[in-house]
Amino acid sequence: MKKDFLALTDWDKGELDQMFALAADLKARQKRGEPHRLLEGKTLAMIFEKSSTRTRVSFEVGMVQLGGHALFLHSGTTQMGRGEPIKDTGRVMARYCDGIMIRTFSQEAVEELARWSDAPIINGLTDMYHPCQLMADLFTVIEHKGHYDGLTFAWIGDGNNMANSWINAAAVFGFKLQVATPVDYRPDTTVMQRAADLGADISYTADPLVAAAGADVLSTDVWASMGQEEEAEKRRQAFTGYQLNTETVGRAKDDAIVLHCLPAHRGEEISDEVIESPQSVVFDEAENRLHIQKAIMATLMG
Ligand code: CP
Ligand code: NVA
Repeated sequence: MKKDFLALTDWDKGELDQMFALAADLKARQKRGEPHRLLEGKTLAMIFEKSSTRTRVSFEVGMVQLGGHALFLHSGTTQMGRGEPIKDTGRVMARYCDGIMIRTFSQEAVEELARWSDAPIINGLTDMYHPCQLMADLFTVIEHKGHYDGLTFAWIGDGNNMANSWINAAAVFGFKLQVATPVDYRPDTTVMQRAADLGADISYTADPLVAAAGADVLSTDVWASMGQEEEAEKRRQAFTGYQLNTETVGRAKDDAIVLHCLPAHRGEEISDEVIESPQSVVFDEAENRLHIQKAIMATLMG
């Protein structure tokens, strides 16, 4: 039976821990220049309905390193952009390809694609979740801190797809999460409720300094996500103060690390000083998209 990678909560901790271990192994092999062609001759289709730098490049390079091939498909230049239903696209693509990665707007569209496609589906970001990014983030934490158990994580900023994914991660992995968002921009209520039902240790506040207090890992993201460009000015006002800067980072542990999925808007959600500081591991985090996604693809498509 095929398994999809649509949300972290579809998987259990043990399975995801195995992906971290495989990613570490594949990363070491790649650094040593050893072949690791686990997906020899296989093809990944990559459907994009939004822009991307990291996701597109890391999936494509990852497939090449695994001995396979990746196809870049922008919805605007395929029949999807002219209204072909996703369930037809999914059924057809699954007959050519061994896996499909999709970046789109609604999580429901990705779920529908998964229902109709015989090939595994990987969520490359929706308005609701960005699970591959979360896996890269936690893999980076494991590299820098040795583990994630017992650490305190802080999310400061928008209650967006990244915040929802951190909430899922706290529920699945069992770490402590302190979330600060403006009251009108809290994370998705269904996501918060499910995490609470699963017994997750998550606190919510409107005060960034409260969320940052004692944290081992601080993370943030843009104030206006893709698709929210028209709200950018309104959001700039609503999010003033929701920034990773020397004051917020100063409330965290002395050895705290700073994450950002990128792209970053310096001077908005993160200061230039913090993103360029020794505590920032954002470029390791970006690199780790490659290694963890290779592990995800090998697990799903191998
Ligand atoms: N972090 C991330 O997904 O980056 P891209 O939008 O460049 O893919
Ligand atoms: N929240 C951002 C993440 C980009 C990687 C967005 O959805 O645009």
